[in-house]
Amino acid sequence: MPEPGVTPSGGSGSDLHLELPATGSRRAALAGALREAVREGRLAPGTRLPPYRALAVDLGVARNTVADAYAELVAEGWFTARQGSGTRVAERAAPAGAVRTPVRVTGHRTAPVHDLSQGQPDAASFPRAAWSAAARRALAAAPNEAFGPGDPQGRPELRGALAEYLARVRGVRTAPERIVVCSGFAHALRLLFGGQVLRGPLAVEPYGLPFHRSLLSDAGVRTVPLGTDDRGTRTQELAALTAAPRAVLLTPAHQFPTGGPLHPGRRAAAVDWARANGALVLEDDYDGEFRYDREPVGAVQGLDPEHVVYLGSVSKSLSPAVRLGWMVLPEHLVAPVLAVKGEREAWVSVLDQLTLAELIDSGRYDRHVRRMRQRYRDRRARLVATLAEQAPHIAVTGIAAGLHAVLRLPPGTEASTVKGATWQGIALDGLAGFRHPDAVVPPADGLVVGYATPPDSAYGAALDALCRILPPAPES
Ligand SMILES: Cc1ncc(COP(=O)(O)O)c(C=O)c1O
Repeated sequence: MPEPGVTPSGGSGSDLHLELPATGSRRAALAGALREAVREGRLAPGTRLPPYRALAVDLGVARNTVADAYAELVAEGWFTARQGSGTRVAERAAPAGAVRTPVRVTGHRTAPVHDLSQGQPDAASFPRAAWSAAARRALAAAPNEAFGPGDPQGRPELRGALAEYLARVRGVRTAPERIVVCSGFAHALRLLFGGQVLRGPLAVEPYGLPFHRSLLSDAGVRTVPLGTDDRGTRTQELAALTAAPRAVLLTPAHQFPTGGPLHPGRRAAAVDWARANGALVLEDDYDGEFRYDREPVGAVQGLDPEHVVYLGSVSKSLSPAVRLGWMVLPEHLVAPVLAVKGEREAWVSVLDQLTLAELIDSGRYDRHVRRMRQRYRDRRARLVATLAEQAPHIAVTGIAAGLHAVLRLPPGTEASTVKGATWQGIALDGLAGFRHPDAVVPPADGLVVGYATPPDSAYGAALDALCRILPPAPES
């Protein structure tokens, strides 16, 4: 029986400490330990592996066991085998023309080969022709006054189009006078909190975008996380929070990033709390149009338009490069938000506003969203099928909507898996970075995998690469 924790020095000069479990298949255990050593960076790219015989002696296993384990890792792309130079840890594949610097797990990142980071729609599908046709028509129809300083509330054409669209598609109850155009969700947060229309503390979900958390803390706002369970964020805790927040920020249609919808009872509890306390629900509806398995989950705003601030943008539906979003406000907040925006529109191009209004009115925005929904649904199906085939022990969650999924990992494996992904040139995030530092939630290891970004031609390879860095199934 091999002694666990042997450090073979077998002629390669590499310092390699391998821990093999005492039971189970020797070949699988060795292959797993070697993958882990590569993932953790203990075996750097280009490192020459010990010869079969030397490693076999060190570990007390058969020579063929080592040969088979090496062959397995060669087939998977972790190692390369060349006549005369033995088996080496593979240099990470790099994009054509990129400088091939050795990448250490603890070192800086180079440009990823496979982009599975969340947050971006499919750039190749931006509706270039429809957008430029809408821009042409909007320019031709725009009155001369449109070319003067912009109204900080936004163009009436766009507010009219949004009021109709949001009512029809998201169940938002509003009128053009209650809408203020902004450059996106982040801008809306800056206007509300940076402009001191609202003040902290702000109750938040236990998971969220770190960028939004730092934006709020830069504005001097303390965020107080709620708990979560299988019905979503525990909004029933709002009344008992000692911090006594005046507002709660939620992603009710599709919790970001864990992916579930907020249970109807929890939606009602948030609105009831806001009503009873003169407080507000801030509804971040960042990807509400992209729902796959069921009828769309309507906006919470429809329950009580005077206690919910509804926030949306085109960042997922079109592109985050457009910088165009909207706030649907209770009546009493319209004037304070406009006061913060100032005399003239300083952020959002009037021409882009007119273009989006035209795109919506012509029905082409709807058509684009429908097309993208189908596309993302296909992408999601391929992710699920690939994992079912290559890594059936990994649960894929949060996939009823949106542009990303959460892969649940065995406890304690997230950090090394994310490192392995970096090393293999895969851009993705672990769940831990999204967790609020004060959140009291059970530990959960996971990967947040965006499936919208890679071009079609690269998607299959990205999924295969993803499966290679996933932790192996636990030995039964
Ligand atoms: C949770 C969440 N909210 C909102 C947004 C939209 O942000 P913005 O409109 O500022 O681009 C995103 C990203 O697209 C997001 O991930």
